[in-house]
Amino acid sequence: MDSSRKLSTIYARVPHGLATSELSLRRRSPRILVVDDNPNTMSLMQELLSSRGYDVVALPDAAQAEAEILRRAPDLVLSDVIMPGKSGYELCRELKENPATRLIPFVLITGLTEREDRVRGIEAGADDFLSKPIFPEELFARVKSLLKLKEFTDELETAESVLCTLGLSVESRDPYTEGHCERLAANATELGRHLGMDQDSVLALRRGGYLHDLGKIAVPDEILKKGSNLGPEEWEIMKQHPVTGENICRPLKSLRLVLPIIRHHHEHSDGSGYPDGLRMSEIPLLPRVLQVVDVYDALRTARPYKPALPHDQAALTMHEEARRGLWDHELVGEFFNMLDQRRRVA
Ligand SMILES: [Fe+2]
Repeated sequence: MDSSRKLSTIYARVPHGLATSELSLRRRSPRILVVDDNPNTMSLMQELLSSRGYDVVALPDAAQAEAEILRRAPDLVLSDVIMPGKSGYELCRELKENPATRLIPFVLITGLTEREDRVRGIEAGADDFLSKPIFPEELFARVKSLLKLKEFTDELETAESVLCTLGLSVESRDPYTEGHCERLAANATELGRHLGMDQDSVLALRRGGYLHDLGKIAVPDEILKKGSNLGPEEWEIMKQHPVTGENICRPLKSLRLVLPIIRHHHEHSDGSGYPDGLRMSEIPLLPRVLQVVDVYDALRTARPYKPALPHDQAALTMHEEARRGLWDHELVGEFFNMLDQRRRVA
């Protein structure tokens, strides 16, 4: 059979008009976690949702729900508000504060109709509400729409992880930078927290650790492996990597905060950096933070053209370079405060 006939045979087995997302949803039944201390409500919900083909786990309190979520994350949580132990609000807030679980849609089931209680739920991060008594058609409609949302965020996460994997593949082209992305992601996250940044900024720093040099994918091996002593034309090609990386990541809205990190991680406070020659206050904060961590890692790692510096010498070099106008002086100070605190704790 020639290849075009083989392909048409494969396509013939896929029902017409079936989108890729529908195919992925059919791989397994969505998993729904019901948390309610009332055995009647629990069994009613389990029966209703199971009848629609969902994989349902029902538990009577927040502690057991947390253990179950750790064991296997559900696609949706439906939780009562008032339960023995932690309330539905507390469970919701904890899940929404944890980057690993915050994208799981959370519905509060409430017998309360007061506006203040809804406001509390919204403040805790609930995605939706269901009122008792539960009407099956309303339950099905909300569950269906929230699972669709979850499916989209899962696909988005997949797209991001593909890009991060690409970032790692760029790193692997240069054996001297092994582990650089992971160290950068970890240290930038820690510095963001040390500076009291909000959760979205900290997450952007983590992603920036993996994605900042993604644009090097377009830099030929012979230039990439030289590291230093680049000719003027080679240097021009190398200097394009922040813009290339930004262009690759731009279509993903969830990477909005990461784009400035990718574009500006080689700017200098005195305006001598690239690609835009920005000066100190013009350089956004997030790339300045990642830059400090990046420079430290580069100084502490051996390259074909230079040895690794010990910690104290790297600190002296960075303070000196900050004084000369390359890096953000205050951030360099905070970074070494953070490392000193880490050393004292260890
Ligand atoms: Fe770079």
